[in-house]
Amino acid sequence: MNKIQVADKEFEILLEKDIINKRTRLMGIQLNVDYENRCPIFIGVLNGSFLFMADLLKEITVACEVDFIKVASYKGTESSGSVQDLLGLPNNLHNRDVILVEDIVDTGLTLKHILEKVHLQKPASIRVCSLLFKPAALLEPISELEYVGFEIPNEFVVGYGLDYNGLGRNLNDVYRAVGSAPMR
Ligand code: IMP
Repeated sequence: MNKIQVADKEFEILLEKDIINKRTRLMGIQLNVDYENRCPIFIGVLNGSFLFMADLLKEITVACEVDFIKVASYKGTESSGSVQDLLGLPNNLHNRDVILVEDIVDTGLTLKHILEKVHLQKPASIRVCSLLFKPAALLEPISELEYVGFEIPNEFVVGYGLDYNGLGRNLNDVYRAVGSAPMR
C-alpha cells in the first residue's frame, strides 16, 4: 500500500501533499512577516524546486520579484560533487534581499556553489528556503539556511519536484526509496 515504482526502484510515501501544503502555508506566513516592506527577490533553483516554488509563491503577499536559476549536480541517486550552471543568476542582485528557494539540501554543495556567486553581487541579504533538508548528509554548515520545511533522514527521495533519473517530478507526494541503506 502506498508503494510506487519509479524506473527500477520502489518507493514508499514519506510526506503527503496535504502535509506539504500545510507546511508551505506556514513558511509563506513567516516569509510575509520577515520581508514586510522589503520587496525580496525569490530565486528558484531548477529543476527540483518548480512545484514548491509555485506553491510557496502563491502564499506570498508582500511585493516581490521571481526568478530562476538552473544547476545540475546529481546522477541517479548520488550527488556527483561537481555543480554545473545551466541557467545563470540574474545580475541585478546588488542591495537586494535575496531568497533562494531549493527543493532539498543534501550535501549542501549545490547551495554553496550558488551562494558564492550570489555573494559576489553584494546583495543586502541572502537567505535560503528549502522544502527538505537532510542534516546527516550536510558537509559544511550553511548559515543562510533559514527556512526549512522538513528535516528528513539521509535517504533518497522522489516526487513533488524531485526526480530519480529524470522521473517522478510530477508526483504529488514525496516518497523515500524502499529498502535502500542510508546514502552516506
Ligand atoms: P546537494 O548539492 O548534495 O545538496 O544536492 C542538491 C540537489 O541534488 C538538490 O537540489 C536535488 O536536485 C538533488 N538531490 C539531493 N538529494 C536528492 C534526493 O534524495 N532525491 C532527488 N534529488 C536529490
